[in-house]
This record gives sequence, structure tokens and C-alpha cells, in this order.
Amino acid sequence: MSQLLKGKKILLGVSGGIAAYKICELVRLFKKSEAEVRVIMTPSALNFVSPVTLSALSGNEVLVNMFPETDQDKITAVETKTWHVYTGLWADVFLIAPATANTVAKLANGISDNFLTATVLSSRCPVIVSPTMDEDMYRNEITTSNITRIRESGYWVIPPVIGELASGLVGVGRMPEPQSLFDYTVNFLNGHKFDLNGKKVLITAGPTYEPIDDVRFVGNQSTGKMGFALAKAASQRGAEVTLISGPTMLQTPRNINRIDVTTAEEMFSAVDREYLGQDFIIMSAAVADYRPKSRFRGKIKKTDDDTMTLVLSRTTDILEHLGRNKRGFKLIGFALETENEIDYAMDKIRRKNLDLIVVNNPRNYGAGFGTETNVVTLIDSTGKQNIYEKMHKFDASNLILDRALTL
Ligand code: CTP
Repeated sequence: MSQLLKGKKILLGVSGGIAAYKICELVRLFKKSEAEVRVIMTPSALNFVSPVTLSALSGNEVLVNMFPETDQDKITAVETKTWHVYTGLWADVFLIAPATANTVAKLANGISDNFLTATVLSSRCPVIVSPTMDEDMYRNEITTSNITRIRESGYWVIPPVIGELASGLVGVGRMPEPQSLFDYTVNFLNGHKFDLNGKKVLITAGPTYEPIDDVRFVGNQSTGKMGFALAKAASQRGAEVTLISGPTMLQTPRNINRIDVTTAEEMFSAVDREYLGQDFIIMSAAVADYRPKSRFRGKIKKTDDDTMTLVLSRTTDILEHLGRNKRGFKLIGFALETENEIDYAMDKIRRKNLDLIVVNNPRNYGAGFGTETNVVTLIDSTGKQNIYEKMHKFDASNLILDRALTL
């Protein structure tokens, strides 16, 4: 018997597709590798495999119903427990296989109408989904956009394979064999870092908008992608993440406490409320340095003058404020510089009392606002530099977190 998964807690969600019968074999593989396994079934999965079998194989009761027995004659005692929350917190990883088109659609929309979907919504561990269905259902654009949506929310998706389907047709949509699902889970658990477990991380993201009047503002081109990628990466590594975001179109990654703000002063108030007790604070927001000195109530009318003057005043430098009030957290700032990047960045580290600064130059191809990638240099307070090639913002986020953990 191998000990590949010794001490790992695997939650297995089974929804109602014919491939559900193969899950017995998967449970056996997990148990043989010394994992602890709990199985949740949707009510329709009961048509394809017996909960008694899965309970015997896993050595745990199989969870199906959200609510206790309500048939008056059968009630002996009722205890209300939030089992879906408890079960979600218990697991190291949550694998949903097979995940029918219906279950995938529910995950994509946050529907929690059975024990499985409610547990997914309240879980903090990584969720792996194995969509399994007939080819036409799989290729339907509603299903493909649902799969894209769950990927974007931070779920891992194991693509279905080509083969014979329940309909008798041959095509894509089959669940990979239990051994493949097992291998995927082992690789995932071995490769995945949970090194921010129990840590609190505060991240700011996006631009700020500083109102001129009721319809106009001074803003910048930040889209928030870097900060959101950082939040997603930190949460996936087990951190409790608070994300304070300026105006952006981005969806909130799962398991993240998001606070929306508009102006630099609102961002400052939110940070000031949240910063105590944090282990890491990462200021990736492009906070406005200046705001219109006075805000016009209503809409400013144009005049016959060819020019108009807007008087600006300084906003609070949030990063500097945090640097002056360091209470046990590591402070990470960003610098967007177009020239003399390293000199300016070193100066910022000293002035703002930073532990690390992430420097990017928007002139570099693949860096800056709105792009999926970034080109970053990390510099710590001793002046040690790490220069990186262009990479996806999610990968850059993981490098920043790797470095943060060494501070
Ligand atoms: N920042 C902040 N509060 C502000 C302005 C900026 O906390 N009012 C933070 C940003 O989130 C970023 C860092 O400061 O982490 C660098 O911002 P930047 O505007 O590049 O630096 P400045 O110190 O304003 O320097 P410069 O004007 O030279 O660019």
C-alpha cells in the first residue's frame, strides 16, 4: 500500500451521470494511498451508484441531504448543523467527478440547491471539476461559457476525454478513467502550495477615480488585473484575503473578502480599518496622487474661455502611512516607472519603509495596464534585485508571494 496521500483529506463530489459508477474505483485508489475520503452525492447521483457502496469504500457516511428528515413519523431528534460549511473547511481538496452540465451550470452561477453545490460555495480549499457529459451538451456555448466562468473563478478543470459516450455516440465528453483522476489529484496536491495557510493578506487593486463634478473624474488606466491576480493566488495558497478595489469590471475571485471603493480617500479609510492584524499588505492599486481640490456639485457648464484650470491637491499616500505605522506586517509596494526604474524604486523603499517593491515599466512590451502579462523586477530593502522575463500576471503574483514569504 502506498502512502502517497497519507494525511490528505479529499472531498469527492459525485453528480448524476453514468460515470458515477466509476467513482467506487477512484475512492478505492484514494484509500489505498492512505487519504481520508468523504463523499457527497447529489440526489440524482443516487440513480447511478449506491451511497452504501461509497460509504463502505470511503469508511465515512455519504452526505446527500441539506436538511434532516422531515417526515413527522420518522423524526426522533433534530439537530441543525451547518455541515456544508464544516465539510468544506475540512477538505484539502474538493474533486467533483463526474460534474454534469447541470452541476457545472450551478457552480458557474453560485446556485447552492443541494449539499454538493452548497459545500462548493462555502469551501476554501482548491476545487477540481471534471465536466462529464454528452458531446453536444459539452460543446453547447452555454456550457463552454460556464466552464470558462468557473475557471476564471479559480476552479481547476480536468477536460473530458474522447471516447464512447452513454448515448452510444463517440465523441468528447467522457470522464477520464479513475487512475487519471487519481494521478491528477496526486500531482495537484504535491505541486500546490498551501504556504499561506493561516496568514492574512490585504491587497489593494485598480485605479481610483477622483471626482471633478457629478459626472467627471480624474482617473488612470489601471484595470485591477494585477491586484486581482495577486488576491486569487494568495487565496489559493490558503491565505485569508481582503481585497480593496477601486472601480473595475473584474469578477471577485472565490473566497475573497472584497471591499469596493472609488476615491483615494475611500481607499485610505478602508485600508486604515483593515490593516491591523494583517501579515502582508500589498499595495498594487494605482492610487491617484492628486485629486481636484474642490468637487463641483452638479455638472460644470462650459464657458467661452478656451482654457480652464483645474486645481489639484495631494491625496494621502496610503503606502507611506502604512510604512510609518508598521505593526507586524510585511509591506509591499508597487512602482510604475518609465525611466531610472531601479533608482526611483530604491528611493521609494526608503521613503515609504517598504520590505519589497515590485517595479514595472509600462514601456516594456507585455507590461502595464490592462495586459494579461507583466514584466517585473522585485527589489527588497537590502537592494537585492530579482529581474524576471515577461509572464502572466498570475505567475508574477506567485513569484511576488514566494518572495514575500522569505522577507
Ligand atoms: N500609493 C499609495 N497612495 C497614494 C499613491 C500611491 O499608497 N496616494 C502607492 C501605490 O499603491 C504603489 C506605490 O504607492 O504601491 C507607488 O506609487 P507611485 O504613484 O508610483 O509612486 P509615488 O510615490 O507617487 O512616486 P512618483 O510620483 O515618483 O511616481
